Amino acid sequence: MKEKLQKIRENAIAEIEKSDGLERLNEVRMAILGKKGELTAVLKGMKEVAPEDRPKVGQWVNETREAIESILEEKKKKLEAEALRLRYESEKIDVTMPAEKNKHGNLHPITQVRNQLIDIFGSMGFEVYEGTEIETDHYNFTALNTPQDHPARDMQDTFYLSPEFLLRTQTSAGQIHVMEAKKPPIKIISPGKVFRSDDDATHSPMFTQMEGLVVDKGITLCDLKGMLDEFVKKIFGKETTTRLRPSYFPFTEPSVEVDVSCFQCGGKGCKLCKGTGWIEVLGAGVVNNKVLEGCNIDTEEYSGFAFGIGIERIAMLKYGINNIKLLFESDLRVLDQIDD
Ligand code: PHE
Repeated sequence: MKEKLQKIRENAIAEIEKSDGLERLNEVRMAILGKKGELTAVLKGMKEVAPEDRPKVGQWVNETREAIESILEEKKKKLEAEALRLRYESEKIDVTMPAEKNKHGNLHPITQVRNQLIDIFGSMGFEVYEGTEIETDHYNFTALNTPQDHPARDMQDTFYLSPEFLLRTQTSAGQIHVMEAKKPPIKIISPGKVFRSDDDATHSPMFTQMEGLVVDKGITLCDLKGMLDEFVKKIFGKETTTRLRPSYFPFTEPSVEVDVSCFQCGGKGCKLCKGTGWIEVLGAGVVNNKVLEGCNIDTEEYSGFAFGIGIERIAMLKYGINNIKLLFESDLRVLDQIDD
């Protein structure tokens, strides 16, 4: 009997040792200690043991069972620890690994500049007026002191929809609508698309302008210059200054072309400013009395200034874009880089 138990024990130890998982270990346990297990069978056979031997044999069986149980327990702990280790291993996160960059969208550069201009002029008290892209010849030209056959009409190659209607060539058309609708003081900006039959590296048949108009008592060219100085510092940097050059627009008198000191070289002369130290950024002037009178504004009492900014031009200068087409081609490799 003792030998038999010894054999069961040895066999059990070998089987336990060989078990490579908790499931297998449980099978081994059942095969020895389960209802139909080897050791259980020995216990069941106790009735055949002579009564005087029973206590001794019982003790052997118990010892064997205890020994097997403790080895089983030990193995179970080992297997559990191993399973846990494997789980940790597979779920390991390397917190030092750089996270994947979240790609986020950004506004189109033209929208960015447009919004920056609205912010800057908004902070100076300008209100936004949105005009319409289809205009009449009257608002786009005649009311702006540019009647039929006026040579200045040649400055802008116009897309006519009919003899009366056209795609506006300038946001200046909005000036007239505002002055007809509102009594001074007037202080508006008007951003929007304009259209001209013009197409090269710096011109596109459709582009964006922002008009500005101020009409009030005692407005002079000095007010325009002061406001522009403030504006260019905000958009191009604190060191930027302005220079006015005489120009011509039918609806302003005097008219000026506004240059800014080159914000790239600081005025020394570089590629951006073509060695001159100055960059032309907009047209402006004191509102022509003929225009004010046409809108029934008393020129004895009121005067004004107006300016027109090319938004693509500002964007191209600010972001170093050398071809206006890049702003209309929706190439994400270009657009992704401009996130101001
Ligand atoms: N409308 C002019 C242009 O498109 C710019 C401008 C606006 C000039 C207002 C003077 C005053 O060229």
